Amino acid sequence: MVYLNGDFIAKNKASISIMDRGFLFGDGVYEVIPVYNGKIFRLQAHLDRLQKSLDSIQITNPYKTKKYLDILTQLISFSSVKDQSIYLQITRGADTQRKHIFDALIPTIYIESNPLISKTKQELSKGFSAISAQDIRWSRCDIKSISLLANILYAQDAKKHNVEEVILHRNNQITEGATSNVFMLKDNALFTHPTSNHILSGITRDLVLESAHACGLKIQETSFSLDDVFASDELWISSSTREIMPITMLDNKLINQGKVSATWQCVYKHYQQLKND
Ligand code: PDD
Repeated sequence: MVYLNGDFIAKNKASISIMDRGFLFGDGVYEVIPVYNGKIFRLQAHLDRLQKSLDSIQITNPYKTKKYLDILTQLISFSSVKDQSIYLQITRGADTQRKHIFDALIPTIYIESNPLISKTKQELSKGFSAISAQDIRWSRCDIKSISLLANILYAQDAKKHNVEEVILHRNNQITEGATSNVFMLKDNALFTHPTSNHILSGITRDLVLESAHACGLKIQETSFSLDDVFASDELWISSSTREIMPITMLDNKLINQGKVSATWQCVYKHYQQLKND
C-alpha cells in the first residue's frame, strides 16, 4: 500500500497526471525517514527540513505535523516489518500545460514505505570503499530536491566501480557524498563541512555530531581536502539509511591502513542508543 493525495492504495494502482510538474521538471522535494522498531525516528526534524525545502521553492505545505503523523503511522502499520524506510515526496502538482513559470497548484503528495535492512555492527566495522569526484551539482544542495540527475550519475559510477559511495569535492574541499554527509577523524577531532548551500544538512549528520560529542571528540564544522583525508585517521559517511559507515578505502588507497577504531565504535554505540530513545 502507498499513500497518494489523500488515499491509501495498492502501488500498482497509483498514478499521477503526465502534467505533474514533478514528472515534467523534477519540480518537487522529498524526505527519507527511518522507522526503528515501529517508531518513526526524528520525525519532527525531517518535517522541519521538509518545510525548509518547500519554502525554498515556494510550495505551500499541504499538511500539518499531526496529519503527517497520522498518515505515516497508518502507512507503516500495513507492514509487519518493524524497521522501515519512508519515502515522502511533494511536487508542485499538475498544470494544464507545460510551462516553466508556475501558478499556485494543488501539490501532489506521494508516500511509500519499504523494509529497512540496516547493516550490522560487524558488517559496518569491516569498512567500505568509495571513490572521489568533482561536485558538479547546483548551488542549492541544501534543498532536498527530487531533481537528482548528478546524484544518480554518481550512484551509477559507484556501482560501476563496485564501491559504496562517491565523495564529492568542490574547489578542493570535500562537500559531502552523493547520498550522504562526510566526516573526517583526525587527532580526536571530527571534521565535517559546515551547513551551507553546498550540502544537505543531514538529520543523521546532527546525530553523528551529538554522538561524537558524547564520545569526547572535538567537533570541527570546517571543510577539509582530499589530501587531508589521506593524512587522516578515519573517514565516515552518514545518512538515514546507512547510519554511520566507515570508509576505509578511497580511490583504491587505504586510509590509515584501513583502521576502524574504538572511536567509531563509541559513536556507533551512542547512535544506537538514540534509536531506542
Ligand atoms: N539521502 N546528503 C545527500 C546528498 C543526501 O542525499 C543525503 C540523504 C544526506 C544525508 O541526509 P540524512 O542524514 O537526513 O538522511 C546528505 C537520502 C537517504 C536519499 O536520497 O535516499
